[in-house]
Amino acid sequence: FRIAVLVSGGGTNLQAIIDAIDQGTIKDTEIALVLSNNEGAFALERARRRGIPAAVVSPKSFAARAAFNEALLDCVREHQPDLVVLAGFLCAIPDEMVEAYRNRIINIHPSLIPSFCGKGYYGLKVHEAALERGVKISGATVHFVDSGTDTGPIIMQKAVAVLPDDTPKTLQLRIMEQAEWKILPRVIDLIAHGKVKVDGRKVTVIGQDE
Ligand code: GRF
Repeated sequence: FRIAVLVSGGGTNLQAIIDAIDQGTIKDTEIALVLSNNEGAFALERARRRGIPAAVVSPKSFAARAAFNEALLDCVREHQPDLVVLAGFLCAIPDEMVEAYRNRIINIHPSLIPSFCGKGYYGLKVHEAALERGVKISGATVHFVDSGTDTGPIIMQKAVAVLPDDTPKTLQLRIMEQAEWKILPRVIDLIAHGKVKVDGRKVTVIGQDE
């Protein structure tokens, strides 16, 4: 089972996937490509260290968005992934890619969708909004990607407590450690083994939800 991991930043979720493959909690899976829109992403360094093919497709290199979209899809296709994993990828996924990989693109979002998601909710902004609203529980969501922002079928969620002294940064780190780095590798292993079924907006994890 081949996966492409799309990144823009530090790549701690990518690292969690690499570690899970090394530890055998993700089985029968290889990372065929790490692709970044940003050449400065530390995630690329993590890939290179491990000898994983790494590529940069930057919107800055293209005059038109359509040309960037095409290059992005071409690069992914070239590496023939069975699944595309968005792990902190901050560019919108072009419609052609959503079509070409329907229910074969997943994203990790650092809140319990449908709270604190959609356009404008990325990175620390998600956690700022959660603290501002005063929620006592937040968490992370892994979902399939459709043509909207954070609107696709939900595969798995994990709740994390918000503590009285939390800052956006402390909450972000707790959600990464307790939720993101666990459920993203877990979902990849489940999909790799054919255990995730989608029917419209309803996702069933075989052996877990049934
Ligand atoms: C994570 O919080 C993820 O949920 C969000 O972007 C962040 C990426 O962090 N979509 P990293 O690059 O994996 O460290």
